[in-house]
Formats: sequence, C-alpha cells, structure tokens
Amino acid sequence: MITTSNLTKYFGALGAVQSVSFSVGKGEVFGLLGPNGAGKTTTIRMLTTLLAPSSGSASVGGYDVIADPLGVKRSIGVVPQTLNLDIDLTCAENLEYHGRLQRMKREDRTSRIEELLHFVGLREKKDMPVEHLSGGMRRRLLIARGLMHRPAVVFMDEPTVGLDPQARRMIWGLVESLKRNGITILITTHYIEEADALCDRVAIMRTGKIIALDRPVELKKSVGQFAVECLGRYDVPRQFFPARAEAIEAGRDLCTDVVVRDVTLEDVFISLTGERIEG
Ligand SMILES: Nc1ncnc2c1ncn2[C@@H]1O[C@H](COP(=O)(O)OP(=O)(O)O)[C@@H](O)[C@H]1O
Ligand SMILES: [Mg+2]
Repeated sequence: MITTSNLTKYFGALGAVQSVSFSVGKGEVFGLLGPNGAGKTTTIRMLTTLLAPSSGSASVGGYDVIADPLGVKRSIGVVPQTLNLDIDLTCAENLEYHGRLQRMKREDRTSRIEELLHFVGLREKKDMPVEHLSGGMRRRLLIARGLMHRPAVVFMDEPTVGLDPQARRMIWGLVESLKRNGITILITTHYIEEADALCDRVAIMRTGKIIALDRPVELKKSVGQFAVECLGRYDVPRQFFPARAEAIEAGRDLCTDVVVRDVTLEDVFISLTGERIEG
C-alpha cells in the first residue's frame, strides 16, 4: 500500500530525508521511530503530497505521489502532528466540515459522524466546542477526522505526543482496532514503547536515514535479549547478552546497583548510534 524508493528531501544543504526506501503491506502497522529532527514528519509530508521530494519516488494506495497526488489524497487519511482542529466548532462540526471538503454526501456524512464519534469514545461530546476538550479527546477527534472518508491508508504523525499514559493507551486501542479492520497505518513516534507495542515493523530513523528496519522482536534480537545496566552510572556503558544467566554473571562484576532487564528498542538505537532516542 505504500512504497518509497530512495525518497529524498533537501532543505537547502540540509538532508532532512536521505534515500529512504521501504514498503508497507495491506493491513500492516508500520512505524518510523527516531528522535526529534530524524526526518519522520518530512517523510510523511512527502507521502501525503504536501511536500515535493527532491529526488526518489513514492506511491501510496497504488498512486504515485508526484504524478497522481489526487489519487493519493483520495486514498489516505492524515492525522497531523499539530492539532489543527477548529476549536470554536463542535466535534460534530469539525467532522462535518471535513466531510464536505471530501465531497461526501450529506446522509453519508451524518451517519459516518455518529459512527466515528462512537468509535473514538466522543459520542457524549458531539456538540461540545473543541476548546473544552482535553488533549487526549482532541487527539481522538483528530483521528476521527482522518477516518471520515474511509481511507485505506492512514498516516499518524506522533499521535500520542504529550498525552498521559491512559490517554495514550486509548489511542493505541484505536490503532489496534483499525488494524483489525484491514486499514494500513504508517505511524511516527519518538516513544520506544509505542513503536514496540503497536508496530508490525519499525524503521529506525536518524538524521534523515533509516538505520535499521525489521519487526521489533528481530531488532531487539539483533542486540541481544538481555541488557545489563548500572543505575545512576552513565559512565558505564550498557551491555547486552543473549541469555539471562550470562547477563547476571556479567552484572555481578560490573557495579553494585546493577539491573538485568529485557532489551528495548532504545537499546537497539543506542547500540547503533551511541545516543538515546528520547530527550
Ligand atoms: N520546512 C523546513 N525548512 C527547513 N528545514 C526543515 C523544514 N522542515 C523540517 N526541517 C528540518 O528537517 C529535519 C527533519 O525534520 P522533521 O521531518 O520535522 O523531523 P521529525 O519529524 O523526525 O522530528 C530537521 O532538521 C528540521 O529542522
Ligand atoms: Mg515530527
């Protein structure tokens, strides 16, 4: 449903996205994981036809992003990183407005609004102006808006940024039910746990490039299954081991406050770059 080949975007001399290639199958949840500035949003903006690539190519839903941007736009839903809802309008009015832009028929808009407000748990807030909604509710409304015209492919740019754990889990639940309905989803995040919990495959990005791409379990296996870490000792590098017994053994000699735990996607990032993802 999504294919990119050497997709590249330069802003002047800055290579925001450099030769990025991947493909996403129908019904797959594909994640772009990386720190701020890695090029995730720029990649999404090119795939959603908001930004022209400097070079390379991409297609979404079978349509080429350069040759057939209208075809792309009809097949996709976009949930942007910034909350660009109209806060003076109610939930229903925001969805209604979007449905009209998408040229949906009146009866279809009305029934779809009911269906989606139910789906995102905002039925009781239907006639409430967006300015009175919590951050988590606004995010859910943004997702509903992206789904109005029943897109086969949905792009979500950092859909849980700044949310508390409970609000975040609600959004994860929505992503999971979309996946069960066969929707293809490309999601960006700088939250390690989110990529691990939601994504079938994850591309780890750093300074415009994909530095690793696989299923989370395989990415973690490539580092080792168990991490050994010294609490409060940033001078002692983390170590990784395939077996718990080995990890415990190594930890014994390392320091007093030692932790042996499962490897995370952050460990994968650290072992590839020497840096942490979350700031
Ligand atoms: N319109 C723009 N003009 C100039 N530089 C930009 C623009 N948009 C993004 N960038 C730069 O491109 C890089 C990637 O940004 P972005 O795609 O937003 O990263 P991410 O979404 O992973 O945080 C950053 O260095 C950012 O400052
Ligand atoms: Mg971004």
